[in-house]
Amino acid sequence: MKAVVLEKVTPIEEIKLTEMPVPQVKSGWVLVKVKAFGLNHSEKVLRTMEIEENYIKKPVIPGIECVGEVADPGDSRFEKGQKVCALMGGMGRSFDGSYAEYALLPEHHVFAVHSDLPWGQLGAVPETYFTAWGSLFECLQLKPDDTLLVRGATCALGYAVIQLAKALGCRVIGTTHRESKFGLLEEAGADEIVLDEGVITGKVHSVTKVLDLIGPRNLRDTLTAVDKGAIVCNTGILGGVFELDNFDPIKEIPNGVYLTGFFSNYPTQEIMDEIFAFLNAHDLQPHAGQVFDLDHIQDAVAAQDSKKVNGKVVVTV
Ligand SMILES: NC(=O)c1ccc[n+]([C@@H]2O[C@H](COP(=O)([O-])OP(=O)(O)OC[C@H]3O[C@@H](n4cnc5c(N)ncnc54)[C@H](OP(=O)(O)O)[C@@H]3O)[C@@H](O)[C@H]2O)c1
Repeated sequence: MKAVVLEKVTPIEEIKLTEMPVPQVKSGWVLVKVKAFGLNHSEKVLRTMEIEENYIKKPVIPGIECVGEVADPGDSRFEKGQKVCALMGGMGRSFDGSYAEYALLPEHHVFAVHSDLPWGQLGAVPETYFTAWGSLFECLQLKPDDTLLVRGATCALGYAVIQLAKALGCRVIGTTHRESKFGLLEEAGADEIVLDEGVITGKVHSVTKVLDLIGPRNLRDTLTAVDKGAIVCNTGILGGVFELDNFDPIKEIPNGVYLTGFFSNYPTQEIMDEIFAFLNAHDLQPHAGQVFDLDHIQDAVAAQDSKKVNGKVVVTV
């Protein structure tokens, strides 16, 4: 099969397909014929720095998510040909991931998919919508009368979040650090758009829930931007800072403001079913910003890196 294999920090120009044997199914694992996969900011982190860490399997096929068909169910609950998705749980880090024609995946991180969306669109769903769903409903306890602020709304996750929150009936404020992207956020459905130049305290009002996708770089400012009773969920690290140094929760989380975080490592069949049911019920179209085929994987990664694609970059296989 064709696959991308990484062993060390790899610039985009060196990303290429390598021929390798199709993996053999083993007990507790499922062989999936990959039909599409989305690209993620997290794979850029792996490719440009995290690959050096000891806990990363090397060489490794990257890719933290995919949709496809079961090629060999082994001793799992799945049937050959069944439509499935898979995400996270060490995929593309501690075991080989989805940048390939086939992926051998642990049964507990493979989920049946009940959807008629075409592969190119379906590929935009698993990681992005699971993360959006968990952040909004598990962490932020989002309700229709909430005003949701999405900080760093121009990423693929931001678009999905706006779509879900608007379908629920919320008022949504999106931030971007580029005025040129105001139109896009309007198109995505945001009711109000705010230019984020590093400080939004004083620029947003009556916000009850915040999804912060910029992360620790500006999180202290997010905490002071909201009123008492608001919940702030940090899910993203687009700001490039991964931790809060010398964080004093007593003094830095304002009284009556709640801080939480979401980690997409623990998907379940139940939640994936809820997501597809919600998409169906509200007739929502997951947004693939640009679709490439596997032979153009280098172009796909370059497109994602260019920040010119609006929405998820998806690769079909
Ligand atoms: N916690 C979890 O489990 C989890 C799961 C999935 C994703 N995430 C995180 O969520 C974030 C979004 O993920 P994604 O896959 O949707 O990303 P993505 O689509 O690859 O994000 C790229 C977009 O983000 C915008 N951006 C980049 N740097 C920015 C900055 N400093 N400030 C504002 N916007 C910036 C860029 O648009 P412009 O610069 O042109 O505006 C770019 O087009 C990432 O940090 C990712 O690691 C976390």
